[in-house]
Amino acid sequence: MSQFPLSRPRRLRYTSSIRRLVSESTLTVDDLIYPMFVLDGSDHVESIESMPDVFRFSIDKLIEEVREVVALGVHVFALFPVTPADKKTLCASEAFNPEGLAQRAVRALKEAFPDISVITDVALDPFTVHGQDGLIDDNGYVMNDETTDVLVKQALSHAEAGADIVAPSDMMDGRIWAIREALELEGFKNTSIMAYSAKYASSYYGPFRDAVGSAGNIKGGNKKNYQMDPANSDEALREIELDINEGADMVMVKPGMPYLDIVQRCKTEFGVPTFAYQVSGEYAMHQAAFANGWLNKDAVIMESLLAFKRAGADGILTYFAKDAAKILDLQKVRSN
Ligand code: PBG
Repeated sequence: MSQFPLSRPRRLRYTSSIRRLVSESTLTVDDLIYPMFVLDGSDHVESIESMPDVFRFSIDKLIEEVREVVALGVHVFALFPVTPADKKTLCASEAFNPEGLAQRAVRALKEAFPDISVITDVALDPFTVHGQDGLIDDNGYVMNDETTDVLVKQALSHAEAGADIVAPSDMMDGRIWAIREALELEGFKNTSIMAYSAKYASSYYGPFRDAVGSAGNIKGGNKKNYQMDPANSDEALREIELDINEGADMVMVKPGMPYLDIVQRCKTEFGVPTFAYQVSGEYAMHQAAFANGWLNKDAVIMESLLAFKRAGADGILTYFAKDAAKILDLQKVRSN
């Protein structure tokens, strides 16, 4: 037995400077994507009970908020429209209305901030009376190919409005190929597709459905015959591979923290730009613990986001984007 340990990993943890020197992952503002909810009307901001500090903004207020967040360095935004109940139908035609809320919001944002990137959600749930992501048959089954036809129209209307990235979150088969083909044919060859490739039938989406007003519609229903089974991992790789082959530029895993194993497998296997969505339920449970003083807010936000980077994510959609950008800004000041 030697007199001293053969290895002292603690040496590399001895000072802050050495810890920073050997740190393997970093989080920067370039990793943050801010999901935001948009309302009709003007001069209007609404809070969301299950998502403290997240708001629904009318377009004019959205611009004010984005201005503040852009000043913190965040430059990628994901938009989610809150569709008024009287515009919801069985055929979801509001989804591709060129004057729809999402389309108007994209135009307004890109006009005010030409250098940011705007991501739009391609799925029909905010526009259907039943809250499912597609068109249903008489038995309530979401019809794949009929839905894809509408998703194509929706994605095109987003591209026409100026969206930089369209993000299909519907989990229909073959929709990436159909959208890519339509974008090419219509002259949108530089519109990127971020595919929600491995999207699970998760119970962590509840607060989001409150936020966009689709929760009441879904009622006892679920999305298990199109979103993935939380038990599966190999299947996620098959979904991701299909989407890459069909023309996705970036892929996403969703939810985030409970699915970091999928993020890691995706990045290791395919080496493509990989994103993860820290979803509304993850946000809500963090906020609940912060509100009770059970967890340290700033420290836990940063640890949770760094964990995505360590797993291999290139970026994170997170409702904490503004908080994280503020914290990163403060850290910069301190280390200068
Ligand atoms: C719509 C969509 C959902 C989310 C993003 N896009 C909800 C769902 O699939 O029911 C969830 C995001 C979140 O929970 O933060 N298809």
